[in-house]
Amino acid sequence: MLLYPRLVFSFFLVLSVNFPIIAQGGRIPVRAENAMVSSSHYLASEAGRDIMARGGSAVDASVTTAFVLAVTLPSAGNIGGGGFLVYQSANGESTTFNFREKAPLAATKTMYLDEEGKIKDNSNHEGILAVGVPGTVAGLYKAHQKYGKLKWADLVQPAIEIAEKGFPISPEIEGFSTWLLQNKEVYPSTARIFLKDEQTALRSGDTLVQQDLAETLKRIRDKGSDGFYKGKTAGLLTDFMKAEGGIITREDLRNYEAQELDPIKGSYRGYEIISMPPPSSGGTVLIEMLNILEGFDLSKKGHNSAESLHLLTEAMRRAYADRALFLGDPDFNEAMPLEKLTSKEYAADLRQSIEPHRASVSDSANFSEAHLIYESPQTTHFSIVDPEGNAVSLTYTLEQSYGSKIVVEGAGFLLNNEMGDFNPIPGHTDTRGLIGTEPNQIEPEKRMLSSMSPTIVAKEGRPVMIIGSPGGRTIINTVLQVIVNVIDYNLNIAEAIESPRIHHQWLPDVTRFEDWGFSPDTKRIYQEMGHEIELRSVQGQAMGIYIDKESGMIFGAADSRSYDGKAAGY
Ligand code: GLY
Repeated sequence: MLLYPRLVFSFFLVLSVNFPIIAQGGRIPVRAENAMVSSSHYLASEAGRDIMARGGSAVDASVTTAFVLAVTLPSAGNIGGGGFLVYQSANGESTTFNFREKAPLAATKTMYLDEEGKIKDNSNHEGILAVGVPGTVAGLYKAHQKYGKLKWADLVQPAIEIAEKGFPISPEIEGFSTWLLQNKEVYPSTARIFLKDEQTALRSGDTLVQQDLAETLKRIRDKGSDGFYKGKTAGLLTDFMKAEGGIITREDLRNYEAQELDPIKGSYRGYEIISMPPPSSGGTVLIEMLNILEGFDLSKKGHNSAESLHLLTEAMRRAYADRALFLGDPDFNEAMPLEKLTSKEYAADLRQSIEPHRASVSDSANFSEAHLIYESPQTTHFSIVDPEGNAVSLTYTLEQSYGSKIVVEGAGFLLNNEMGDFNPIPGHTDTRGLIGTEPNQIEPEKRMLSSMSPTIVAKEGRPVMIIGSPGGRTIINTVLQVIVNVIDYNLNIAEAIESPRIHHQWLPDVTRFEDWGFSPDTKRIYQEMGHEIELRSVQGQAMGIYIDKESGMIFGAADSRSYDGKAAGY
């Protein structure tokens, strides 16, 4: 995807703050006094903001924002996928909701393999067997039951109206529509929605109406979670599964439960970090990296200087190795050393092995113990703060862009292909990244490991920054760099999000740079330290909010790496 710069202007006065809020040659955040939503689609941000203007809580707004994204951002916004919600109230109460998809009851460790033990036709990523049991509706419903102020039905309604009335599509949906036209093995149920007719793709600016999706949303509006997991929607989904050779049954849907989990917590230079525990690797790895970096004077090294990039890389290398070695679904992996991985003492030990001007080598001796699964860059994140100062950080996904690309006939929503996040061949690990280790092998009702990192940064119990991003395994590093950009380099939230980013994930031992963002000199000095570089176009689409503690003013920014992102406040 090309960088798609879109400037958002707002006018404001200089206020007394901890961090500068005036753009220093970069972008200017959107400013609001009461509440803010920053998401990947302007209609979703505006709908979430309007819910709060009507008295809704941050969780209410997140329900609305998520359902609107399921209509307006079909590449990742969803009801057929799963994700994580991190919540922190203005008075320091924090929790998380885990609505990651699950393997169906009939899933087996070897379900994607042929007689020779090889993966059949990429079937863990493509086709009906790649679909995990969706969690999004259960997760939103559970969060609303605990923290909602407005009626559930009123929160789902805006999405229904947009699905029925339609909205102008972005070049990104045009791209999907064109792809459908060119591909022979497209599901007719998908083509019916995302093509104009059998011969014509949708064009950017065309209006997309989704009547079947509107009807499904009405059942969810009227019956809550049961409107998805039981009754007509469940019937449409399981009949479709049966007809297409899928394995998700009524029992799978009935059994699905979202979980409320304690967040994983750390600290960084006096700020509290509240993030997602396993089955996401995000919070654990983020806190481990921040702990390592806390021992270095990053601000003195200079923003995105070769020296600071070197230190970031070395922290990434070490924490991602631990991700690969230790993390999986906690319901199936009891002995994960989370306390150790997120401790300051462990970080101090790891720091000892970092040379100031020399790259270390990713130790692949433990490679057979690693699980380097492929994760897609397509996911979406939104950040919310309500007028009371309560915050929600929510990332959810269909896995790849448009998930399995399979729309449920008659129900109008896309299914995920999240089963591809499991290790597909038990015991088989190779240098191309196919991993077969135990913690993330397929088991019925197990959740696949994720990198989604919805995070809240707080000071004295009050949220000050809400941040997250899509981007598969790059997510954790994107979130890391936005946090460091604000805390160490005093960038405002928009500048912190816009800044170019890097990604290292232990193996392969190479650092990806956004190719537009770093000077040749910086890259040369960095390479002279022994690092290998690969260029990429963009990394992530961070959506963030910063709340100035002294003035209470709220600053939001939507990453211009997204087509339709917007921070909307009032
Ligand atoms: N499917 C991407 C993730 O969960 O990290």
